[in-house]
Amino acid sequence: MTLDAMPMFEALRRIKRLRLFEPSMGVLGFSAVAVFVILLFFCLDYRDFAGRSLGISWGRSQRRLPWVVQINGSEQEHRVEFLGENGGDCDLFAGNWVWDENYPLYQSNNCSFLDQGFRCSENGRPDLFYTKWRWQPRDCNLPRFDATVMLEKLRNKRLVFAGDSIGRNQWESLLCMLSSGVANKESIYEVNGNPITKHKGFLVFRFKDYNCTVEYYRAPFLVLQSRPPAAAPKKIRTTLKLEAMDWNSLKWRDADVLILNTGHWWNYDKTIRGGCYFQQGSEIKFDMRVEEAFERSIKTVLKWVQEAVNPNKTQVFFRSFAPVHFRGGDWKKGGNCHLETLPELGSTSLVPNDNWSLYRIANALLSSSPYSSSASTNTNTSGNGIMKLKVLNITHMTGQRKDGHSSLYYLGPGVGPTPPRRQDCSHWCLPGVPDAWNELLFALFLKHEAS
Ligand SMILES: *[C@@H]1O[C@H](CO)[C@@H](O)[C@H](O)[C@H]1NC(C)=O
Ligand SMILES: *[C@@H]1O[C@H](CO)[C@@H](O)[C@H](O)[C@H]1NC(C)=O
Ligand SMILES: *[C@@H]1O[C@H](CO)[C@@H](O)[C@H](O)[C@H]1NC(C)=O
Ligand SMILES: *[C@@H]1O[C@H](CO)[C@@H](O)[C@H](O)[C@H]1NC(C)=O
Ligand SMILES: *[C@@H]1O[C@H](CO)[C@@H](O)[C@H](O)[C@H]1NC(C)=O
Ligand SMILES: *[C@@H]1O[C@H](CO)[C@@H](O)[C@H](O)[C@H]1NC(C)=O
Ligand SMILES: *[C@@H]1O[C@H](CO)[C@@H](O)[C@H](O)[C@H]1NC(C)=O
Repeated sequence: MTLDAMPMFEALRRIKRLRLFEPSMGVLGFSAVAVFVILLFFCLDYRDFAGRSLGISWGRSQRRLPWVVQINGSEQEHRVEFLGENGGDCDLFAGNWVWDENYPLYQSNNCSFLDQGFRCSENGRPDLFYTKWRWQPRDCNLPRFDATVMLEKLRNKRLVFAGDSIGRNQWESLLCMLSSGVANKESIYEVNGNPITKHKGFLVFRFKDYNCTVEYYRAPFLVLQSRPPAAAPKKIRTTLKLEAMDWNSLKWRDADVLILNTGHWWNYDKTIRGGCYFQQGSEIKFDMRVEEAFERSIKTVLKWVQEAVNPNKTQVFFRSFAPVHFRGGDWKKGGNCHLETLPELGSTSLVPNDNWSLYRIANALLSSSPYSSSASTNTNTSGNGIMKLKVLNITHMTGQRKDGHSSLYYLGPGVGPTPPRRQDCSHWCLPGVPDAWNELLFALFLKHEAS
């Protein structure tokens, strides 16, 4: 550790300790000064940081951030390669975030496939640290993401995301990662000419040179949300039919790669409060709890994968819940995450105010299902006709990334930060955390293609 890093380490420790107490003006003041000093340190250190330019070249030095880089060099060399002969059993989801000067994989201002809301740096987020973390599995090394390799493997194929807006977050990340390997950006287009927007039910991007499409279908519940039975009381605007899949599932079914997710809409506010009740068969279940409805819906999804999807054609992934990080509240009560600039390294349980009950329900079902396999041990899949769903088990690794959210920076350039009480601590800045999910997807996809 260099000498100049010592006081920084001390400062960080003090901030951490102080955060255990109720924030008072003094603490906030101290934190603000400390954060300023830290930023100043980096500004001075990275002379080219000036002007917050996005095309920064960070690649000058490996010796910085000494207090957070915990790589044991020799240990890393001894890890097997995930795609190598002995990498098969490696649990990709157990590991650490490590600082890596070679990241991010792309620049947001170089990618036209991003919602304004995810372009945090362009929207005024001052720090870039959140773009510099790479996920390092404990027991093996991931292949470096290679857009050309992935596109070649996707030639003549369809890759489909279906789920909520966090799924769209991940889909847009993948579009940017893949397009970074395509020189002629004009050759990538939405087949119906639609712009990227959160209001569309689905968007299909074609990579012309590879005859492949990368698609997103909005389906926050995955199961079917539709009109209530004719005789239903007036307060019921829609129902969630817990035993039926979303209409669009007909279009997902024949994808070559399908990535499902759900979770963030399974709460009182986004269902019952808005007049959306749960329905089983023809019966509306007025007193069914959200947790129970969620559990039933996951069972429906698993059953559908088993019965409707052809395992010889389609690789199915289920991405687990992505934690939110509203400190001191939730999205309604003005919880915040805008002061977070570093991950919670080496810990998996420090997610404030997040009730992991839905995660536990899904996890229990997915772990016990004979049709799912958690990580990479998919040797038992095909041949016997049994469909296996692979879990992209990103919940724990993502729980550490309280620094990765859009927070105040989702409104667009020139608008400035949002008022602190209207933060987004659930979606993710791009480039950022969803890129790491896609690197895991890349690794698992290549592994499958090789087998
Ligand atoms: C690094 O890892 C090797 C092998 O696992 C171990 O022998 C060595 O003690 C470690 N060094 C440090 C500084 O942790
Ligand atoms: C951004 O795009 C330009 C032109 O397409 C390219 O020269 C440059 O290398 C890209 N930068 C990054 C960081 O991808
Ligand atoms: C493009 O891919 C589709 C399958 O997605 C295939 O049916 C079609 O023949 C391909 N077209 C060409 C020109 O290879
Ligand atoms: C999948 O392939 C296996 C072996 O080639 C075959 O026995 C099975 O019928 C196929 N299943 C479907 C649904 O096509
Ligand atoms: C948290 O989970 C418990 C069940 O584990 C549930 O009873 C409670 O209502 C949940 N709270 C919130 C705020 O969702
Ligand atoms: C996901 O990972 C966590 C932590 O490693 C583990 O407890 C859980 O069982 C895993 N879930 C699944 C479905 O594999
Ligand atoms: C593979 O499948 C067979 C029979 O279906 C089962 O007995 C065995 O335990 C499975 N192995 C693994 C590693 O899941």
